[in-house]
Amino acid sequence: MAQFESCFVVDGYRFLPYHDKAKVESRAVDKFKFKPGDVIVVGFPKSGNTWLVEVLKAMYNDWGLEKYGEAESAVFLEERTLYKNYFSDKRKEFVETVKCEDIPSPRLMRTHIPATLFPCHLLKDKGVKVIHISRNPKDVLVSAYYFWKSWAHGALSTGDWEQTVNDFIEDRQAFTPWVRHVGDWSLKGIEDNVFQVTYEEMKQGLPRVVTKMANFLHRPLTEEDIDRVVRTTTVEVMRNSLSKFLVLDDDIIPEGENPMVRKGIVGDWKNHFTVAQSELFDSKIGEKIRSINPNIPYQ
Ligand code: A3P
Repeated sequence: MAQFESCFVVDGYRFLPYHDKAKVESRAVDKFKFKPGDVIVVGFPKSGNTWLVEVLKAMYNDWGLEKYGEAESAVFLEERTLYKNYFSDKRKEFVETVKCEDIPSPRLMRTHIPATLFPCHLLKDKGVKVIHISRNPKDVLVSAYYFWKSWAHGALSTGDWEQTVNDFIEDRQAFTPWVRHVGDWSLKGIEDNVFQVTYEEMKQGLPRVVTKMANFLHRPLTEEDIDRVVRTTTVEVMRNSLSKFLVLDDDIIPEGENPMVRKGIVGDWKNHFTVAQSELFDSKIGEKIRSINPNIPYQ
């Protein structure tokens, strides 16, 4: 079964079967008890969310995290507010064992929830900061294609490459429409307590991005700190340390695989898109995002 057949739609967005439609519709996330100092990484899936979380974790050693076994991970907000099914039994046990309200501030969190379904208006009042990551959607799509092939042993696969491209363009994949998701979040600024980063700028110069984020968080770092952050968050280091940042079991990924770290490069789309697919993507996705926010990476 193609992924889109198992998704449901709320506010125009496709949600996965893990989500609870009633909770999404009733905006259950609004009731989450945010606390001053919470920092939330938000981004369309496969934009580099996990890397950004690991970079933030490496920047400061006092984050409130979900600790379970050797894993220390950012609170996954939808799992705490919008899910009806967990990825696996291990994940269920994890969520039931680690209570969010017991996690000390400053808590680090992550989410893929679209801006229109998120309590953005509350964040500033509560002193909650958001860091939004965006990435060239062609690379996002290549990344998603491989991710869903292996996740849950392919149960939520996006189909073959041709179908994957078409479903993304036609907004039939999980979390699409990408243009609206990224467009809405990307237009929020410092005045909303939202800071913008891109995967491409992290690849190009991580120290600069780390310095800017440290300023946004009002927690400056030394050059030694920044060197350490860069050294400890490379693709190679992260590829070999999945168990340190994610609690998963074999129901979800084949043993020994790391679904969160693949190539970790800019421009892998050139190895996948045909000229015709790229041109179609440009006319349906590229033109729209440029008209909404020309600062979003697009190639
Ligand atoms: P690719 O599949 O293109 O390699 P997300 O965390 O939002 O799901 O994003 C996953 C993407 O981030 C994957 O892209 C993954 O390889 C990449 N990624 C993970 N860790 C990285 C790192 N340390 N440096 C660069 N890219 C990384």
